[in-house]
Amino acid sequence: LMQRADDAHSTLALIKPDVSGDEQAVARIIGRIVTRGYTIKDRVDIALSHAQAAAFYAEHERGPFFDALVALLASGPVIALLVEGDDVIRGWRTMVGPADAAVARQQAPQSIRALLGTDGPRNAVHGSDSPAAAQRELGFFFFPRIRPEPSSTDSTPSPAARP
Ligand code: TYD
Ligand code: MG
Repeated sequence: LMQRADDAHSTLALIKPDVSGDEQAVARIIGRIVTRGYTIKDRVDIALSHAQAAAFYAEHERGPFFDALVALLASGPVIALLVEGDDVIRGWRTMVGPADAAVARQQAPQSIRALLGTDGPRNAVHGSDSPAAAQRELGFFFFPRIRPEPSSTDSTPSPAARP
């Protein structure tokens, strides 16, 4: 299969600190991804600093919930999953459900946030919302894996090859 890293074929599924320590919750999330037919191509378990969490959520920095969001994301380990599959950006967002867990329980009771979310920023998982967001967000965790290989006609040295 041709590489399609710049379209809707790859996304970041991020398991947030409110559930990352709950083995059963993590198993349920991963089980749903696999059952849905998507492929988990890579996984990184890592604790983000406050600054890294703020950078990840930079698009929300003027929002009223930014501080709580960043505090939550930096409060413990996250599990970053590189997920691939047909229309996975949209499909994973649908599996995730609405941002507010209470709304999710009303409007999407089968969604992951309905099942595992608590309140406010504690909504268990994140999903990239566009191809551009997926590339940016995957880059936080998987940058060396998704960076395109230079073509055989490209004489520009890669950053890694520079002294
Ligand atoms: P948003 O991008 O709107 O939701 P999503 O995660 O579904 O893309 O918001 C980002 C995060 O901000 C969301 O996951 C949880 C938090 N948040 C709140 O805490 N309160 C809110 O009212 C909203 C809209 C978001
Ligand atoms: Mg969002």
